[in-house]
Amino acid sequence: MNAPTRILVVFYSRSETTAEFAGRLAAELEGDYERLQEVELLRRAGPLGFLRSILDVVRKRPAPLQPMTHRLADYDVVLIGTPVWAGRASTPVSTWISERWRQMRTVAFFCTMGGRGSQDTFAQMQRLARCVPIATCAISARDMRQDVAVEKVARFVLAIKDALAARERVVVAR
Ligand SMILES: Cc1cc2nc3c(=O)[nH]c(=O)nc-3n(C[C@H](O)[C@H](O)[C@H](O)COP(=O)(O)O)c2cc1C
Repeated sequence: MNAPTRILVVFYSRSETTAEFAGRLAAELEGDYERLQEVELLRRAGPLGFLRSILDVVRKRPAPLQPMTHRLADYDVVLIGTPVWAGRASTPVSTWISERWRQMRTVAFFCTMGGRGSQDTFAQMQRLARCVPIATCAISARDMRQDVAVEKVARFVLAIKDALAARERVVVAR
């Protein structure tokens, strides 16, 4: 019998929307959960923090991060979640992928947003991770407050499980 797939959900959240989605995913997939924290904890707070966040994305300035509590080597699949910032991944997430891409075998991406920018965000994450995600999921902050979130989580989880099962079949057939 195959060992269960070990899943880690890694995310950044400034105002808890992505955190909520990440929590639901980790629960559905029985995975672990790692919140990225910046060294400068208050950098994103308030209106000034909003402006700093836009500028950091536009200037591609990296965000120094606190050490992780989980070891990436212990996981088969990493789900990476970010809010969309100015049509891109949030600075903590782009920094983290740039630093860690070598340690990831299989990835899936998710993002939350006001309404637009998910495709560019996923394209950027794929470039930084240097690998194609097995599944992606984007949800607006408004839909997070409705039943759509339940449906989106279910569909994303199914897409991940299908992709992993298909990969397993290929390995067995070899
Ligand atoms: C600095 C900044 C830039 C943003 N840029 C976009 C954007 O380009 N497109 C969009 O749809 N939403 C944008 N948003 C809205 C967030 O993506 C959205 O509210 C998200 O769900 C917040 O996630 P969080 O609560 O996990 O931080 C931006 C928010 C911030 C703080």
